[in-house]
Order: sequence, then structure tokens, then C-alpha cells
Amino acid sequence: MASKSFSMFLLSLALVLLCLGTAAAQGLQLGFYSKTCPNVELIVRQEMARVISVAPSLAGPLLRMHFHDCFVRGCDGSVLLNSTQNNVAEKDAPPNQSLRGFGVIDRIKARLEKACPNTVSCADIIALVARDAVLLTKGPFWPVPTGRRDGSVSIAQETRQLPTANSTISSLISSFASKGLSVKDLVVLSGGHTLGTSHCTAFQKRISNYTGRGDTDPNLDSNYIPKLRAKCAPNDNTTLVEMDPGSFRTFDTSYYSLVSKRRGLFESDAALLQNSQTRAYVLRQAGGAFASEFFKDFGDSMINMGNIQVLTGAQGEIRKTCAFVN
Ligand SMILES: *[C@@H]1O[C@H](CO)[C@@H](O)[C@H](O)[C@H]1NC(C)=O
Ligand SMILES: *[C@@H]1O[C@H](CO)[C@@H](O)[C@H](O)[C@H]1NC(C)=O
Ligand SMILES: *[C@@H]1O[C@H](CO)[C@@H](O)[C@H](O)[C@H]1NC(C)=O
Ligand SMILES: *[C@@H]1O[C@H](CO)[C@@H](O)[C@H](O)[C@H]1NC(C)=O
Ligand SMILES: *[C@@H]1O[C@H](CO)[C@@H](O)[C@H](O)[C@H]1NC(C)=O
Repeated sequence: MASKSFSMFLLSLALVLLCLGTAAAQGLQLGFYSKTCPNVELIVRQEMARVISVAPSLAGPLLRMHFHDCFVRGCDGSVLLNSTQNNVAEKDAPPNQSLRGFGVIDRIKARLEKACPNTVSCADIIALVARDAVLLTKGPFWPVPTGRRDGSVSIAQETRQLPTANSTISSLISSFASKGLSVKDLVVLSGGHTLGTSHCTAFQKRISNYTGRGDTDPNLDSNYIPKLRAKCAPNDNTTLVEMDPGSFRTFDTSYYSLVSKRRGLFESDAALLQNSQTRAYVLRQAGGAFASEFFKDFGDSMINMGNIQVLTGAQGEIRKTCAFVN
């Protein structure tokens, strides 16, 4: 009797473990490639170290690429797909102007296909590249869970889901919430604007014709406006302006200091002062005394973002070339 119930116990324990195992297999994992492609992180790091040493300005766009990928159809590499005869892909939609570095992904993918063919997804490459872009610009390291699979659909129109440079605080919060991300994730990930540059067009209205009456944005420091005007002539659509002047190639907390002084480049940066929670975080980080806290928060929020609607297990595919479905 006792032994029968004990074996029932073992049986149910085995079932529970089986279910847990299945559940884990459906999510992302640390070391997902440890047996199938043990050098994946080394290869990505080597390529990224080379890229950032010769083209440090790519760090911002490569970090942004992960964000653009995850916010449209989940982190499935859809941002990398090329348009075809019958379809305009995300890559060819207006928000792509801030993305560069597709060649970097292609080179890494080519090396990984040599080392371990048909194994590492393009979506995982983007996630690892984003982490290394931050790490190699003196930012934090965080462990990147992997096991994403690549999607097969990329639709230019869907990039409308991305928050824009003129988003209000309420639309930013609801956009992040619709992807399962919190208000804290919003203010923490906005700190990524410590890296990179922007076209003048993204903030031109703020410095020249805010409401159509030749006025400027009252939420922008009036002493900063002449400096921005000196860089951006009225119809300039080519000049790149540093988002975090002076340290745009270093991952640090100076973005929050700028935003607190009403010198954030975008309305979506200024918007962070309009909500009590985001405002409190901006002001706390503006002093620079809690950088290690921001670094930890940033890694945590990147992991959250990297989980958005991922394809795992038997879903999707492992693309051979990141610009094309197999
Ligand atoms: C894919 O598109 C990019 C530009 O979006 C282009 O540079 C690249 O050559 C294309 N790839 C192929 C193989 O056509
Ligand atoms: C971005 O989209 C435009 C069309 O809107 C296209 O001409 C350009 O090649 C695209 N850029 C990249 C990097 O794919
Ligand atoms: C942001 O700018 C776009 C294009 O200029 C405009 O269509 C949209 O209404 C603006 N959004 C907000 C919230 O002002
Ligand atoms: C400002 O915008 C308004 C409305 O869009 C337009 O009529 C006017 O010409 C613009 N002024 C300047 C100086 O660009
Ligand atoms: C930039 O402006 C020039 C001249 O006004 C125009 O011909 C060109 O199409 C614009 N480029 C983009 C990407 O909007």
C-alpha cells in the first residue's frame, strides 16, 4: 500500500517535472546554444569589438535595432527582412532612418553559419549585438537569454506601432504596456538615448514652428534652442545631432541630466518629466550618484524587452540569411 502510493507520488512528481521542462523549453534560456554553438557569444563579441573600435557611432543604431525588432511582431528578426516584389518590409518604412548596421548583423551571421550552420537565429544575434553595443561603450553587461526563432513576416505599415519622437507620456506608457512593459521599463530604456544621434527632422518643429505660429516648444530650454538651430537649418534632413552631446559614444547617466535640464532632444524625452514615476527616476539618475542602479535596471529592462512575443521551440525558423526567409 505504502509502496504503491509512493510510486504514485513518483509518477506525479515525474509528470510535474515533465510539465516544468516543457514550460522552460517554451521560454528563452541562458546558455541555449551551449551545446549547439558554444562560441556564439565569443564570435559576436569579437565582431562587435572590431566594429565599435572602427565605427563607434554604430553603437546607438545597433542598440535601437533590438528595440525596433521587438516592438514590431516581437523579437523575431522581422526588422532585418528585405522588401520583396509584393511586400514593403519594416526596413523600408520611415522609422528605418535611425537604423544602421545591417551589414554588421550580416557579417556576424556569416561567421556563425560557418561555425555552426542553421543554428543561431537572427533574432538572437540582434539581442546579443545590442548587449555588446552597450557593454563596449562602457555600459553594463547583462546575461542574454536566447532561443528566439526567426519570423517570416515583415510589414512596413506595422512600424506605426513604434513610439515616435513626438509621443506624449500617455501614449508612451500605453505603447510599452501593450508590449508587456512597465512605466519603469519605459524610463529606464529611454536612457538608451545616451548613445547615438538623431536627424534634425525628429525635433525641427520644437526649435522653429512648434504649433504652426513660428513658436518654439516651451518644454525645451530656451537657452538650448539657438545651439540646436545652429546645427539644423529649417529643411535639413541629413545632419545628425548627438542625443547626448559630449558623451554620445559612452553609455552613462548623462541623458537623465540633460532631460532634467529640459535639454532632451525629443518631445518623448521631455515627456518623461510629465509623469510622477518617470520624473522621479529622471531626477534621481540626473545627479549621477546612482549609475550602478541604472546599469542594473537597464539590463533587467532589456531582458524584459527581449522577451516580447518571442518565437521558440518549433515556431518560426532559423534563417540562413537574415535578409531573407528560407
Ligand atoms: C537587402 O536590403 C538592403 C537595404 O535595405 C541592401 O543593402 C541589401 O543589398 C539587400 N540585400 C540583398 C541580398 O538584396
Ligand atoms: C529606408 O527606407 C527607404 C524608403 O523609405 C529606403 O529608400 C532606404 O533604403 C531604407 N534604408 C535602409 C537602411 O534600409
Ligand atoms: C507627431 O508627428 C506626426 C507627424 O508630424 C503627426 O502626424 C502626429 O499627430 C504627431 N503626434 C503627436 C502626439 O503630436
Ligand atoms: C509654420 O507652420 C505653419 C502651419 O503649418 C505654416 O503655415 C508656416 O508657414 C510655418 N512657418 C514657418 C516659418 O515655417
Ligand atoms: C531631403 O530633402 C531634399 C531637399 O529638400 C529632398 O529632395 C529629399 O527627398 C529629402 N530626403 C528625404 C529622405 O526626405
